Amino acid sequence: MKVSVKTPATIANLGPGFDSFGLALPLYNIISLEETVLPGSGIEVNIINEKNNDDNIIDIPTDKNNIIYKAIELLYNFIGQVPNELKITVRTQIPVSRGLGSSASVIVGGLIAANELLGRPADEKILMSIATEIEGHPDNIAPAFVGGVTMSSWEEDGSIVYRKLPWDDGWKLMVCVPDYELNTEISRSVLPKEVPMSSAVYNLKRSAMFVDALYNKDEELLKLALKDKLHQPYREKLVPGLADIMNNLKHTNGVIGTVLCGAGPSVLVIYNGIGASEIKEIVASSWNYFNVKSNFLNLPIEKEGACIL
Ligand code: HSE
Repeated sequence: MKVSVKTPATIANLGPGFDSFGLALPLYNIISLEETVLPGSGIEVNIINEKNNDDNIIDIPTDKNNIIYKAIELLYNFIGQVPNELKITVRTQIPVSRGLGSSASVIVGGLIAANELLGRPADEKILMSIATEIEGHPDNIAPAFVGGVTMSSWEEDGSIVYRKLPWDDGWKLMVCVPDYELNTEISRSVLPKEVPMSSAVYNLKRSAMFVDALYNKDEELLKLALKDKLHQPYREKLVPGLADIMNNLKHTNGVIGTVLCGAGPSVLVIYNGIGASEIKEIVASSWNYFNVKSNFLNLPIEKEGACIL
């Protein structure tokens, strides 16, 4: 039996909601799982890059250290089993290590496929907890599972609380992807263990504004909300040009806000449909200064989450 699951790319944080907010994009990975027929063939992981770019997929482990395998192993353990003969195939369209949730997408896809192969022993709640345990935070996991815009929280008991938030389709997304990779672990390593109370309060207020702005389609409030003092300032040194891009876009016609995509290095510009070419020009020239080439994806929100094909 072979099961294939399609999962979307995601963008986490969205400014003030570090490790909490996320949204899904219509870019996908397809994860296929089959129990191989030949006993003793063990684990086989194949990664097929469908983007025709030079993403570094060579360094992705294809043995038991692969994160998809690790997630699947936890699900098997949950029902008192261990995976034996498994062939995992990933067809990727999502750029890796760019802040677009490629790891969450393969973890979620692998888990849903394995759950299907096993006869659905786990519900969404359990799958989300396992996925978050592997990923380390739920903000990409929740939208990869359910699509749309989400807030999520990893609770002390290991469970995930999430809610889907509304989105005004007049708010457009320009995803600006640079031509270099940034490992999430490195990008988290520059964050402080503790932050000043004033920074915590700054983000607390803006997270509340963000949710209210989404419910009330309040563009002016969203403009105030899309700011952050918990992670972006610390990550600027890893994303040359980020400070310039943010500054230069502040007063650009149509721009509602500019945020780092997850741990970076991609940048998300939320705008009201006006000024797309000016936005691209500003981002491209800011990165160009640092010899960074850029690619632009003008995408809507993906409203659906992972699905079995
Ligand atoms: N919230 C995470 C971070 C997302 O900013 O590190 C990256 O996976």
